Amino acid sequence: MNFEKEIEQLNKIMSGLESPELVEKQHQKGKLSARERIFTLLDPDTFTETDQFVETRFDRLGLGKKKAAGDAVVTGFGKISNRPVCVFSQDFTKVGGGSLGEMHGKKIVKTIEMARATGCPVIGIIDSGGARIQEGVSSLDGYAGIFAAMVKASGVVPQISVILGPSAGGACYAPGLSDFIFMVDNISQMFITGPEVIKKVTGEEVTFENLGGANVHCAKSGCSQFRFANEKDCLAGVKKLLSYLPQNNMDDAPRSKSLLAELFEKEDSQKLMDIVPEESGKGYDIKAVIEEIFDNNSFFEVHGEFATNIVTGFARLGGYAAGVVANQPKFMAGVLDIDSSDKLSRFVRFCDSFNIPIINLVDTSGYLPGTNQEHNGIIRHGAKVLYAYAEASVPKISLILRKAFGGAYIAMASRELGYDRVLAWPGAQIAVMGPEQAVRIIYHRELAERNDAPKFEQEKIEEIKQMNSAFEAAKLGQVDMVINPKDTRAILTKLLESLLNKREEKINRKHGNTPL
Ligand code: HXC
Repeated sequence: MNFEKEIEQLNKIMSGLESPELVEKQHQKGKLSARERIFTLLDPDTFTETDQFVETRFDRLGLGKKKAAGDAVVTGFGKISNRPVCVFSQDFTKVGGGSLGEMHGKKIVKTIEMARATGCPVIGIIDSGGARIQEGVSSLDGYAGIFAAMVKASGVVPQISVILGPSAGGACYAPGLSDFIFMVDNISQMFITGPEVIKKVTGEEVTFENLGGANVHCAKSGCSQFRFANEKDCLAGVKKLLSYLPQNNMDDAPRSKSLLAELFEKEDSQKLMDIVPEESGKGYDIKAVIEEIFDNNSFFEVHGEFATNIVTGFARLGGYAAGVVANQPKFMAGVLDIDSSDKLSRFVRFCDSFNIPIINLVDTSGYLPGTNQEHNGIIRHGAKVLYAYAEASVPKISLILRKAFGGAYIAMASRELGYDRVLAWPGAQIAVMGPEQAVRIIYHRELAERNDAPKFEQEKIEEIKQMNSAFEAAKLGQVDMVINPKDTRAILTKLLESLLNKREEKINRKHGNTPL
């Protein structure tokens, strides 16, 4: 037997999977084809495609004529930086704009389940008109299956969505359920209801880009964490992100050995004191501090355009991957507010799921006051921060640079909340509130009655500052170490290393009820 006919049939199907005309159609829109995207993302010659023969079971409403092998999604597995991944990539050129029907959905579910079973990240490239209209309830159930598979894989393997075309309607909840969303200017669109429906319902005129483009979701809605100018840079960004992540929840975060030498090169930094001004109200760029403390060029910011008063990202310290959370005094004095609370707690929970130690750089006067914040639920959102940090069982280190006031101290630096190590620079202040405000509250009578009120006020402020000093907190053991700023990097590295084998205490319950 030589299977001549069957092999001919096989070759015919395989060679028809990606036609040059349809690839060209994508190129004309400035987009890569579904397979080109996978080849750009994965190590050369590592991609193995599966389920190329799957097709829709429906013929109605003209769908029979649009039928195609693979059902408009390319699925399979391969390697990125020599580490296994599973991947799916929707093909907008096929079966009604890459729309998702029953079988298309099943292929994606198989990919996610394979990633979960083998403990490797899953990357989904989205370019689709959403639920396939012709398949009705079957297409909706296709999505339901995906959502259920994603929830099961959550916290087991990293799930990354890359939006490289439309992600329309309820279909957006697949990226919405993933750990990170990548988008590209003028190519990515994510929206629950499109411009036509919006115009009909509200009369508003919007374009796709203004409604749900990369800029909107990265800077305004906060739905997406990464924005790039083109597809190639975007896919390179996905690879970079993966370099900080373990393969799954049982794995340790990777260690980049080549960076070890730098630990000693950068050990001593006088520059840190020049970057951070002594006056506690003066702004500065915390990212310059991060650059100075962590391994050279190792900081990879997450959610960089959203809630910029908090900075989150991955970095390496002595080669060890860590999640960095820092107040950004350059924007809104680094206060915590609704958006930054959401951003921060989601990031902390991701790090905790995947064994990535957390290092906080704290410099904030607390939560943002105002009716806008109160009425929109700062209590509900702020509680997420407390919950996420208290629940996280990975190594948690906090360094107070200048000030840690009120609830922000508790959330970001209190040993009682569960920090393993709390450090402070010598000038740091820890208090219920700033000294000026405190004097006005507890000495309001004296300030109203005394002739020497300004002098009295100044004296009391100084007295309170003494009381708030890091040395006082260190006397109580609430601050483990007051350190010379120049030694920050060396000490943080030692502490991080000392905590890597920290063991987790499990509470016997189904799960806690995190504020949402
Ligand atoms: C079937 C679809 C389709 C869909 C597009 N097509 N979306 N076919 N089901 N959902 C078809 C078009 O008819 C067209 O077919 C081809 O795909 C390309 O679409 P165009 O409209 O020509 O492309 P473009 O101008 O680039 O616009 C892309 C688009 C638009 C923005 C995505 O097609 C669109 O708005 N589609 C509908 C989006 C949507 O509302 N989807 C359902 C969401 S609800 P031809 O024959 O011309 O090639 C949902 C529920 C999920 O997803 C539930 C989970 C909770």
